Amino acid sequence: MNIAVFVSGNGTNLQAIIDAISRGEIKAKIALVVSDNKDAYALVRAKKANVETFILSAKDFKSREDYDKEIIKELEKRNVRLVVLAGFMRLLSPYFVRQYKNKIMNIHPALLPSFKGTHGIKDAFECGMEMTGVTVHFVDEELDHGPIILQETVSIDGDDTLETLEEKIHKVEHKLYPKAIRLFVEGKLKVEGRKVSRGG
Ligand code: GRF
Repeated sequence: MNIAVFVSGNGTNLQAIIDAISRGEIKAKIALVVSDNKDAYALVRAKKANVETFILSAKDFKSREDYDKEIIKELEKRNVRLVVLAGFMRLLSPYFVRQYKNKIMNIHPALLPSFKGTHGIKDAFECGMEMTGVTVHFVDEELDHGPIILQETVSIDGDDTLETLEEKIHKVEHKLYPKAIRLFVEGKLKVEGRKVSRGG
């Protein structure tokens, strides 16, 4: 199965997916890495792994939908069946979401529906939570909202700093995202309303 990974930054999740595929744990090919940021380190990771990249700056487009349509053309050329958002800092248009309904995944560094938004780790830490975690979900038209595929908790211990908590969260992300992608690729995920069954 051909998949595309969308990035804007460091790309440690992209790396975890590349590594899981090369170990044979996911029977898929990353047909394209899409970035809205030409300086994303994720692009270096893609090139090192010989994965094709497509960089599209948002400033040349009047609307979110026009931007997304340009990307969709590239996905269609490569018969992409799953879109994996891995630190992609743009909201997708409703048009994109409808075209790829239940075929777009996102990873969020908190236990949704708590701590939505761009500072999920910090917000949970500053709130004095004893527990936070990681969520992989399908993307719908609302931010950090679609049906939940997998979640894993991460404890916030007394001696944790924001930095140590970030490390713990990222470690879980790098395990959980490949696991969710594998379930999708193996056809095990079924969505009914807001619930996702994982095939057993
Ligand atoms: C991750 O923490 C992910 O949960 C969030 O953005 C971050 C991306 O990190 N959506 P990286 O670019 O994969 O290192």
